[in-house]
Amino acid sequence: MTARLWFGGDYNPEQWDAATWAADDALMREARVNTATVGVFSWSLLEPEEGRFEFGWLDDVLDRLHRGGVRVVLATPTASPPPWFTLAHPDAMPVTADGTRLWHGSRDTYCAAAPAYRAAARRIAGELARRYARHPALALWHVHNEYGTVCWCDHAARAFRDWLSRRYGRGQAGLDALNESWGTAFWSQHYSAWEQVLPPRATQWRPNPSQVLDYRRFWSDELLAAFREQREQIRRHAPAAPVTTNVMLPDYQVLDAWAWGRETDVVAVDHYLSSPGPEGHVDIAFCGDRARSWGGGRPWLLMEQATNLIYAGDRILAKEPGRMLRDTLGYLARGADSALFFQWRASPAGAEMFHAAMVPHAGPDSRVFREVADLGLVIERLGEVAGATVAAQAGVVWDPDSWWAMESQRFTSADLGYLGEVRDAHAALWRAGVVTDFVRQDAGLAAYPLVLAPALYLTTDAGIGALTRYVAGGGHLVMSLASGMVDARNHAHRGGTPGGLRDVLGIWVEEFCPLPRDAAVALSDGAAGTVWSERVRTGTAEVVASYAEGPLAGQPAITRNAYGDGVAWYVSTRLPAAAQDRLIGDAAAGAGVGPVVPGAPPGLEAVRRHGENGRTWLFVLNHAGTASLVPARGTELLSGRRVNGVLEVAPGAVAVVREERADGSREERAARP
Ligand code: GLA
Repeated sequence: MTARLWFGGDYNPEQWDAATWAADDALMREARVNTATVGVFSWSLLEPEEGRFEFGWLDDVLDRLHRGGVRVVLATPTASPPPWFTLAHPDAMPVTADGTRLWHGSRDTYCAAAPAYRAAARRIAGELARRYARHPALALWHVHNEYGTVCWCDHAARAFRDWLSRRYGRGQAGLDALNESWGTAFWSQHYSAWEQVLPPRATQWRPNPSQVLDYRRFWSDELLAAFREQREQIRRHAPAAPVTTNVMLPDYQVLDAWAWGRETDVVAVDHYLSSPGPEGHVDIAFCGDRARSWGGGRPWLLMEQATNLIYAGDRILAKEPGRMLRDTLGYLARGADSALFFQWRASPAGAEMFHAAMVPHAGPDSRVFREVADLGLVIERLGEVAGATVAAQAGVVWDPDSWWAMESQRFTSADLGYLGEVRDAHAALWRAGVVTDFVRQDAGLAAYPLVLAPALYLTTDAGIGALTRYVAGGGHLVMSLASGMVDARNHAHRGGTPGGLRDVLGIWVEEFCPLPRDAAVALSDGAAGTVWSERVRTGTAEVVASYAEGPLAGQPAITRNAYGDGVAWYVSTRLPAAAQDRLIGDAAAGAGVGPVVPGAPPGLEAVRRHGENGRTWLFVLNHAGTASLVPARGTELLSGRRVNGVLEVAPGAVAVVREERADGSREERAARP
């Protein structure tokens, strides 16, 4: 891939006539678009009948984009099989947990475990690769779109049993292991033959949580297998071309993103803002940090965002002027090498005709297009940042198993959710100005002075070992409520929680005590916990704060334990932001972790990207309503102005400073071509 930042979006010219194509060419030039994602939902035009392909129109699109200097991200169209496919292979349509078979008429109507679907997907991917492998416009293969559809049909059941027999073993021995792992002695669920084992379909009451967890693991793997098959087809014809797929953030639960991050040449994510307020900025950081971490710290691609709209639950809100620029720089600050949108031109018809676009229905004489064109210029000016990485000081454990397992057992408290707890922990670090990576529970964590493991509901033996070694070796760990409640099988840990981490935390939890809706419990430090509380028994830990009222009055609420060369905190309730900030502040100070810009006022976000030869760029985003002064020295790239010690950032404004070294010497010349 070339080093410049990618700017553009999904381009669906098949929805338009030739006159519009010509207009698009000119507008793309005007907006400095250099990348177009093509073909995402084009299956029914590319293969109008089973086995008959029509590539002529796509040839024209790629040739035209190439002439205009626009690189192409070429999608395989497998997220939306054509109507003929349904009629030819009705068994390959997805079936919901309650047995309803879905029909075409929307998109994503396929079962990834159905042999006919897999064969059709391989065929169209292979044909596309054969035809376009050497096209000069081609920069990246984009397999499928947002893998996510889950199915509970008979094909899925067969594939699930295969997956289970690989996990637990074949034949009777495997079945015995499965019975043990799923705890089937409970409620008469013992399986006496493999054929009896099914996906967790709609059932009378609570499903078996171990079965549900395994199904989630299986389905992520099944989708990944479907992705790999397409990738292999592509590589047969285009061995060197990078391949990715776009993952929807922040709350898609379907994929184990760690596994997917390893399988893609570059991580690509889609993110649509759902909040107009400060939570929106933090959400961008949350998504950016996750995307970067899944790729092992490599720069990643923002494949889709919305230009001017915020999808706030039951209504769409407009972003204020300037917000698109600030949002985009939020992604770039955290390691994105692209600013791509869904989509270039608003669709004239269809279910998303009022979705945001770079060219809105109003046309180019619009606020949105003017901001898009201005952004194109900014992206060009920031081109030297491409390829630079981000150095984080803190890690937050991201554990899909904990998410899935907690969701399988929601009856402890409807207010407790894994995603919410992880978000809260990340947000506290954001407010502290500390840049954060996400980490696996069983990763080597020594690179991070500070690690947060919020609501790590499921702990594995490897995870317990890694967290223990981390603290013993001098790490600072902050663990919180409902951690270690289950093991890898989704069985309750016996002998108190957090299972296996008793020594490291110097405490154990005897009883969990969820709080009533909207209730709060006062703590001895003046804060009030919500959602959850626990009866904590201390061993070697010191008590930092206790419950001040209620059935747990006088019992520890927050503890701190010196273990080996490190420190492990435990927080047994949900803290309000101010109390969490105090706690994270103390933990960070103990770990020697500080903000990127010391003393930055609330709402000022600062992140540094690191390039070759020691070059650095300081991204500053002022989300606050007042101007900020930031110490900096170098060249501000949006304006081209020198910064001689102090950078003034107006309310809502952004800046990127190519920094000079502390001794005042000039920055080195561009290290890359
Ligand atoms: C997703 C999809 C796009 C489009 C957008 C907007 O990210 O990938 O095709 O549907 O959402 O809703």
